[in-house]
Amino acid sequence: MVQSLLNAGLLFASGVLAANGVGGVKNGLARTPQMGWDNWNAFGCDVSEELLISTANRMVDYGLRDAGYQYVVLDDCWSAGRSENGTLVANSTRFPNGMAHVADSIHNLGMKFGMYATAGSLTCGRYEGSLGYEEVDAQTFAGWGVDYLKYDNCYNEGQEGTPLITYNRYKRMSDALNATGRPILYSMCNWGTDYPWKWAQTVANSWRMSGDITDNFNRVDPRCPCSGDEGYDCALPGFHCSAMNILNKMAPYPDKGQPGAWNDLDMLEVGNGGMTDTEYVTHFTMWAAVKSAMIMGNDIRAMDAKTLSILANPAVLAISQDKTGSSAVRRWRYYLPNNDNSSNATAAQGSGTIAEIQMWSGSLEGGDAFVGLLNLGDEAIMINASLADIFVDAGGSHSEEAQSSWDVYDLWANRMPDSAANIIIEANSTSAANLTGVYWNNTEKSYADGVAEEAPVLLGKHVGTVEAGGSISSMVESHGVYAVRLRMRAGPSKRKRDEL
Ligand SMILES: *[C@@H]1O[C@H](CO)[C@@H](O)[C@H](O)[C@H]1NC(C)=O
Ligand SMILES: *[C@@H]1O[C@H](CO)[C@@H](O)[C@H](O)[C@H]1NC(C)=O
Ligand SMILES: *[C@@H]1O[C@H](CO)[C@@H](O)[C@H](O)[C@H]1NC(C)=O
Ligand SMILES: *[C@@H]1O[C@H](CO)[C@@H](O)[C@H](O)[C@H]1NC(C)=O
Ligand SMILES: *[C@@H]1O[C@H](CO)[C@@H](O)[C@H](O)[C@H]1NC(C)=O
Ligand SMILES: *[C@@H]1O[C@H](CO)[C@@H](O)[C@H](O)[C@H]1NC(C)=O
Ligand SMILES: *[C@@H]1O[C@H](CO)[C@@H](O)[C@H](O)[C@H]1NC(C)=O
Ligand SMILES: *[C@@H]1O[C@H](CO)[C@@H](O)[C@H](O)[C@H]1NC(C)=O
Ligand SMILES: *[C@@H]1O[C@H](CO)[C@@H](O)[C@H](O)[C@H]1NC(C)=O
Repeated sequence: MVQSLLNAGLLFASGVLAANGVGGVKNGLARTPQMGWDNWNAFGCDVSEELLISTANRMVDYGLRDAGYQYVVLDDCWSAGRSENGTLVANSTRFPNGMAHVADSIHNLGMKFGMYATAGSLTCGRYEGSLGYEEVDAQTFAGWGVDYLKYDNCYNEGQEGTPLITYNRYKRMSDALNATGRPILYSMCNWGTDYPWKWAQTVANSWRMSGDITDNFNRVDPRCPCSGDEGYDCALPGFHCSAMNILNKMAPYPDKGQPGAWNDLDMLEVGNGGMTDTEYVTHFTMWAAVKSAMIMGNDIRAMDAKTLSILANPAVLAISQDKTGSSAVRRWRYYLPNNDNSSNATAAQGSGTIAEIQMWSGSLEGGDAFVGLLNLGDEAIMINASLADIFVDAGGSHSEEAQSSWDVYDLWANRMPDSAANIIIEANSTSAANLTGVYWNNTEKSYADGVAEEAPVLLGKHVGTVEAGGSISSMVESHGVYAVRLRMRAGPSKRKRDEL
């Protein structure tokens, strides 16, 4: 079976590992990329019981819990230091009823509770760190009912510089979490330092692979050095990294994620106001396509309709939560003169390069494929992608895939209308809105089961077909993405699969 899949070009190493139950830290969690909310991007240190519980309630009311966002994660600045016996203590002004109460309240809503600590002597906000206190802190978190730990990298006492040093430091908390007996999703936040994509799969459920994100699409900032073009060997991961800076840094590592262990491109900025709607759509789509953790970072309680309709897009979340766990791969990136409206990249190479276009594609469950055409330039442009390039891993133009015809489903054409989103937000409830064809309830039925049943809302809107040997073409607006699911219509592979 493996051989025939290989011949069909559908196989990513991660799919095989998952099928065999190998790979990933053995806590059974994050079989698909984790989804949730973290307060940092919108609130920084301004944390409280009230913020977490009211946000969790809105996540339920707005249908976000049932869209799959199950973790509510408290970031830095919750601590008041250590008690005399050495255990961490929560700030009683911010958390007057204690942390176990927060966990209970979130659990009562059918959600899970995450917390933050640091593999250093201090957290980034300069509260007590957990280095040297791994066991006692893991026990404290488990005792409070914590289900998720984001584990940062500040003030690490210089314990970095080789993969082994960093591995050992992060493994201590991994072992300590395991020893509690409570399944706790372990989210490493070490900013790509010492190449976590090489070694973190067996100790953690996810690892940050870049410096911190900022709410900007593609602005260059000296505090976030390295664009990803150099290959990733960035001594200073930095912060204030734009969404596209991080996406480009991810491009060499699509094969490193797998069920149970994911690349984390950092929390989403959707809804925080620093990007246009088009840019947020691109940011969200690509985080889903490369199987990043999907952690919302906006103020859920002050969300507008367009933010809700991005975060709840069922056809894109179905890509994120696809069973194979295969990341999309950047197949090509071309630079075009900004006023050149053709996609003849050969002609454009080197001729006053200003606008950039990229094509990403990847395998999905059942032989489907994701394709994303990105326009990073300042003007709308027609982008063309051939089946030969989309399926280059399968053998390019000679592959069965390129010699088959495909149905094309637009992942954004069924976006929830503003009118429906506004009804939800005004009523604090999904029940008054007509969500037929624009929303998926993952609590009722998983994205994977929905895709297996060919639920139209998860496939996207059927917008056409590509003939064997053909191309996908679309006008793509500036900073936009044309994102589609391809499903095979007819071809040698389709016949072979139907016979199985
Ligand atoms: C701890 O690790 C063992 C061995 O890898 C695994 O079988 C077990 O499920 C883990 N327990 C928890 C709570 O993560
Ligand atoms: C999703 O389905 C569950 C289980 O049927 C139900 O309790 C919940 O209210 C539904 N959520 C939404 C937003 O429709
Ligand atoms: C606890 O929180 C309050 C209110 O935000 C703040 O004034 C105080 O400094 C915090 N205490 C510690 C020890 O951080
Ligand atoms: C340590 O002290 C804290 C705060 O006083 C208390 O809640 C906790 O139960 C103590 N733990 C142990 C192991 O004594
Ligand atoms: C590019 O081509 C499209 C479709 O042919 C056209 O609508 C658009 O105006 C052109 N844009 C520029 C900048 O030439
Ligand atoms: C693209 O431009 C190159 C260089 O000018 C030319 O050789 C090639 O034929 C063009 N291809 C298409 C499809 O127009
Ligand atoms: C929705 O929730 C907000 C915040 O709790 C509240 O101010 C508002 O009155 C609620 N609206 C409705 C219709 O219940
Ligand atoms: C809900 O929306 C769907 C899809 O647009 C439509 O077919 C259906 O008639 C609507 N139902 C109601 C009750 O308005
Ligand atoms: C774009 O794709 C179409 C097929 O859809 C093809 O005929 C055309 O030659 C392509 N254009 C370029 C410039 O590659």
